[in-house]
Amino acid sequence: MKTYTIIKYGEPEKAFELQEKPTPVPAANEILVAVDAFGINFADIMARNGLYQDAPPLPAVIGYESVGRVEACGSDVKNKLEKGTRVVAFSRFGGYATHVVSDERAVVPIGEDMDAGVACALAVQYSTAWFCAEEMIRLRKGNHVLIQAAAGGVGTALVQLCKRHGCIIYGTAGSDKKLEYLRELGVDYPINYNTSDFAAEIKKLRPEGVDVAFDSVGGKTFRKSFNSINKGGRIVGYGAAENLGGGLQIWDTLKMVFNFGIYHPVQFLMNSRGMIGVNMLRIADNHPDWLKICLESVVDLVQKGEIKPTVGGVFSADKLYDAHRFVESRKSMGKVIVKW
Ligand SMILES: NC(=O)c1ccc[n+]([C@@H]2O[C@H](COP(=O)([O-])OP(=O)(O)OC[C@H]3O[C@@H](n4cnc5c(N)ncnc54)[C@H](OP(=O)(O)O)[C@@H]3O)[C@@H](O)[C@H]2O)c1
Repeated sequence: MKTYTIIKYGEPEKAFELQEKPTPVPAANEILVAVDAFGINFADIMARNGLYQDAPPLPAVIGYESVGRVEACGSDVKNKLEKGTRVVAFSRFGGYATHVVSDERAVVPIGEDMDAGVACALAVQYSTAWFCAEEMIRLRKGNHVLIQAAAGGVGTALVQLCKRHGCIIYGTAGSDKKLEYLRELGVDYPINYNTSDFAAEIKKLRPEGVDVAFDSVGGKTFRKSFNSINKGGRIVGYGAAENLGGGLQIWDTLKMVFNFGIYHPVQFLMNSRGMIGVNMLRIADNHPDWLKICLESVVDLVQKGEIKPTVGGVFSADKLYDAHRFVESRKSMGKVIVKW
């Protein structure tokens, strides 16, 4: 099989090498998938820059999600899928390859009609959004919800899931083009944080604060998101994009931790506030069945036409470098995929 392997950290052209490797043999509980397309996630950009703690050591084949066809099932796979069944699959890395093996619970059939970009969006980005918005929070009609980086992959997914519940959404993004996109998505109050202070805007629009905040930026932004929730409000923190400019040295980590803010349980108790952290890798490690519920739930919603992921970029495999640069440039909206 072919893989794009990271051989050193840095610029995409120097970091990735196209390599030939033996096609993996599925273990007893695994399914081997012949891959047509794989998705790019923000974590991949962090991994390529050497800033992702959970990434495997070099040389490494990263990649969390693929769309393709079942090639073979391991001997103990309970729900055997026929060879050729079209599926979306999560993988614990290894996705930047023409073949990937996944735990059977991380492989879901998608039918013949689903667009490859849409299917890739459902894996990491929509499943994360589902877990944050449906499993960790109970959203109600009329809830006021702040979504940071709302035009990104997970951001778009959160907007669509919250709109489904009839929430009123305050979505941030870094350019007017993205604000236009957010309006099209149905965001009630798009806020360009480069031209105005999002916390001050929310204070003007909703002096008592929002009911729920989803924050993937971390650092000082997280602290301001937290200060924007009302009494009874909840915040879900699921990322630290702000750390892209940082490093993995102890001082970088301390600075990041300090920027997030220091909190005491009494603050939460007295104000009936909740702070929830989400890391889907930990969910995959400890509750793989929950991951399957997330993926099946969002596949179902797309098939029923209740959500419609945005595919913001499709690149051929020989343009992997451009795909990485595009996501890193912060110009991408929705899902970016690479096709073999
Ligand atoms: N916890 C989990 O399990 C989990 C799972 C999936 C994703 N995530 C996290 O969720 C976030 C979104 O992921 P995604 O795949 O949807 O990415 P994405 O589509 O590339 O969206 C990321 C966006 O974040 C915004 N951003 C804000 N501050 C940034 C900064 N300092 N540096 C870079 N970008 C910044 C940018 O949009 P603007 O310029 O418009 O602000 C950027 O386009 C990432 O932080 C990712 O690590 C976490």
